[in-house]
Amino acid sequence: MRDEMKAHAAKKAFEILLEKARHPFKLGIGSGSTSEAFLKILMKRHHELPPFECVASSKKIFDMSHKILPYMKEDSFESLDFYIDGADEVSLDNNFHLIKGGGGCLTREKILFTSAKYRIIMVDLTKLQRGPIGAGFKKIPVEVLPFGLRSTLRLIHHKGNIRKDFVTDQGAIIFDMQAPLGGHKPTPEICQELCNIPGVIEVGVFPPPQLFIVGKEDSAEVIHV
Ligand code: 5RP
Repeated sequence: MRDEMKAHAAKKAFEILLEKARHPFKLGIGSGSTSEAFLKILMKRHHELPPFECVASSKKIFDMSHKILPYMKEDSFESLDFYIDGADEVSLDNNFHLIKGGGGCLTREKILFTSAKYRIIMVDLTKLQRGPIGAGFKKIPVEVLPFGLRSTLRLIHHKGNIRKDFVTDQGAIIFDMQAPLGGHKPTPEICQELCNIPGVIEVGVFPPPQLFIVGKEDSAEVIHV
């Protein structure tokens, strides 16, 4: 059932892109199964869009599509017109902030998210969560440099686990912090402050996008934030 919800969200995202993309444009593509559902539609129907160039948030997404889609060099874009991605949690009690990084691509995803003028996040209904940030996904992924790992983890001083047998596209490590965080009130801002610790590359807490697409059993709802 969740796959169907994701498929509805992905189809709606493509329809919205068709509607909004009027000129040659630059597109960032997220990672994860919902983004892959979107990618498959994009690969089939890209000729219906105005000319565009894209950039992928992971090697996997690039490998799946680079023979079909026009990619730009990864270091060449200053800004993107659109970014389309999934998320692990949408925090209703925290102003629609997101948890991302379940697939370990949070750093590249955050770069693309931040570069984009218009951000669309596709989720299935189960990702909408109440409670403190991370309460639904039960973890907050943090990307950490392998160099000095133990020292960095000591400074993070939250409980969690190093993701087993996993190395990011940057050759780094994912530390999944247990969520919700204990101690003080775990706000998105407090989570983001972890980026001040040397060795922390990025934290999987994202600000809200302009548009959510919520996939349901037989349709998709569009929510403007
Ligand atoms: C990858 C992500 C994904 O967007 C997130 O994990 C959602 O994945 P899925 O669409 O498979 O549920 O943040 O780093």
